[in-house]
Amino acid sequence: MRGEIVHFTGDPAIEGDRACVHHADGILLIEDGHVVEASDASTLLPQLPQDVLVIDRRGKVIVPGFVDTHVHYSQVDVIASYGEQLLDWLERFTFPVERGFEDPARASETASFFLDELLKNGTTTAAVYATVHPASVDAFFDAAMSRNLRMATGKVLMDRNCPEYLRDTAQSGYDESAALIRKWHGRGRLSYAVTPRFAPTSTERQLELAGRLLDEHPGVLLQSHVAENHGEIAWVAELYPWARSYLDVYHRFGMVRESAVFAHCIHLDDEDRRLMAGAGAAMSFCATSNLFLGSGLFDLRAANDLRIKVGIGTDVGGGTSLSLLRTLAESYKVTHLRGHVMSPKAAFYLATLGGARALSLDGKIGNFEIGKEADFIVLDPQATALQARRNATAANVDERLFALMMLGDDRSVAETYVMGALAWAR
Ligand code: GUN
Ligand code: ZN
Repeated sequence: MRGEIVHFTGDPAIEGDRACVHHADGILLIEDGHVVEASDASTLLPQLPQDVLVIDRRGKVIVPGFVDTHVHYSQVDVIASYGEQLLDWLERFTFPVERGFEDPARASETASFFLDELLKNGTTTAAVYATVHPASVDAFFDAAMSRNLRMATGKVLMDRNCPEYLRDTAQSGYDESAALIRKWHGRGRLSYAVTPRFAPTSTERQLELAGRLLDEHPGVLLQSHVAENHGEIAWVAELYPWARSYLDVYHRFGMVRESAVFAHCIHLDDEDRRLMAGAGAAMSFCATSNLFLGSGLFDLRAANDLRIKVGIGTDVGGGTSLSLLRTLAESYKVTHLRGHVMSPKAAFYLATLGGARALSLDGKIGNFEIGKEADFIVLDPQATALQARRNATAANVDERLFALMMLGDDRSVAETYVMGALAWAR
């Protein structure tokens, strides 16, 4: 692939510009679905054997496939539902739509639609909530496998404070999760994520068993929600009076650990953040959701100060777009309101390597280091007339990336490649 190549070896917000690898006219050399080399065209082209096919995308920007660290596939049908904050929104829109996933056909159709939307948006890996129904996990993994995508999902664990029709028990949730792990984890490019919805909808016994699943199956992920909304936090304090904080509930049950990713992480205190930093747990920054549900403003600087792993989450259907570009635009605005700014390079890091690190997948994806799986996208900085006009005066790669993230969306994604193979072309 020939074009302008941008990828990261670290977080530019912490390590500066040297964490960004940029080839203005570059070649990304791929063999058997893996990266062989990414380098300047002027040095690499003359060395290439005659039989190498060069796909010329000069004028476009080639970056690693985006990683969405938090999203609910079942909620595509409630995206853009009016007027509520988190707890009322769950009751009114979310639980009813998740009920539909007791029907495997509905789950399969939605999983296929959802994954095709992800590919259109340049997202090649995601940590995804299924629903409480084990068949919703089967449907999702089947759809991911048929597209050869690196994906994580898990059955939602929820044994109280939810409608009867969505309720499991501590034991059935444990048994069904264990069976799904045996069936799917590590198969092809798939990983399982133990998925207690959030502290209010699980009993202590269920959280204890969630922690046990993690101990019994090294390498599986843990995904949950934490510290999103003030009403939610007050409820957690009532349900778990012994806990020092909301995060402390998860900590008590061994869930704050290296393989864990927690969505939102808005209303945390310093002790919570130190706990996450020390444990190596990750945060998913879900800007469009946090603004849409009126939840609050994520503090990226506080996370960076402690070197906490951070990725970007769309959190559809609380979030309002499956586009990581649009989500980065809102993330940028959130950091402004927090009194600092996220640079374009830091933003693209979060959407690629940052997300891969958050999901403990950075040994396989996230940048163009030798041997990585070749999931990448071709971005068009001139996708619309306005963007073409803005890009014409962009003086350097930072300006080009910034215009892409502030103005871009699925129209900016010209092509998506999965393990070196074209999976979507606009
Ligand atoms: N907290 C518990 N469940 C959910 C959910 O489905 N979406 C969001 N944004 N927060 C949650
Ligand atoms: Zn969520």
